[in-house]
Amino acid sequence: MELKTQPFVKWAGGKRQLLEKLEARMPESYGKYYEPFIGGGALLLDVHPQKAVINDNNEQLLNAYRQIKENSEQVIQEVCILDEVPCDKERYYEQRDKYNKKIAANQLDAECAALMIWINKHCFNGLYRVNSKGAFNVPYNNKKTGLSIDIDNIRNIAEYLKKGDIEIRQGDFEEACADVKKGDFVYFDSPYVPISETANFTDYTKDGFSLDDHKRLAVLFKKLADAGAFIMLSNHNVPLVHELYSGYNIEEVDVRRAINSDASKRSGKEVIITNY
Ligand SMILES: C[S@@+](CC[C@H](N)C(=O)[O-])C[C@H]1O[C@@H](n2cnc3c(N)ncnc32)[C@H](O)[C@@H]1O
Repeated sequence: MELKTQPFVKWAGGKRQLLEKLEARMPESYGKYYEPFIGGGALLLDVHPQKAVINDNNEQLLNAYRQIKENSEQVIQEVCILDEVPCDKERYYEQRDKYNKKIAANQLDAECAALMIWINKHCFNGLYRVNSKGAFNVPYNNKKTGLSIDIDNIRNIAEYLKKGDIEIRQGDFEEACADVKKGDFVYFDSPYVPISETANFTDYTKDGFSLDDHKRLAVLFKKLADAGAFIMLSNHNVPLVHELYSGYNIEEVDVRRAINSDASKRSGKEVIITNY
């Protein structure tokens, strides 16, 4: 029976709204599946490729994927323990401090993954942001929420990650693509090019992703496309993106966004770019 899985975290730029459109544009068959900016993994967890490389530069997020793969029952148990006490402001900040102590001590274990997942459900808009010292600093969302995990979903994700040939990497997107071969499929969902700043190409950086990173990504797209891989990329529908990927197929699509705190920015146009 086909497993049903979905993201275990709410993630900025999550692709659940675009899933159908992305899947309709994937090649019918391909070698290995690569997702170098995995985030919440909406596409991976819907498509379930049998051979995949997933990557992100967020160490804590990748620890959560690894712990779910190797230690799912312990992660579930730890989240359930956290959920036993209803969350309020005091409890949120107490657990956030505990999480930051684990980050500082580099304790990448099941408890750390459970804290990361629990905090994602209780922090403002599911954001992930750290200060210059690497401490997580997103405030409480002031909401009473129910359970922080769907236990069956976590078990199904664990089964999928274990059964398939799914390699979990952690680092920069370029390095994660070093072994992409002809016939492989790569889906790039980098942090967005900001909608506003694109009129002048100044030195903006959003979510730690600079203009130079966007240019580096476009160079990598071309290199992998020239090597015969199938490449799909999504981003905002802004002039910079059209300029960086001119010559490839650029399709404009409508999307509804839930994570933006500004309601007026919750819908807009994005593009899906392919080389095939
Ligand atoms: C738009 S999100 C991906 C969303 C994902 N497709 C989903 O469905 O949730 C972009 C991701 O890129 C990661 N990231 C930012 N800079 C990176 C870099 N240089 N290399 C690899 N990952 C990076 C962020 O941590 C974030 O998870």
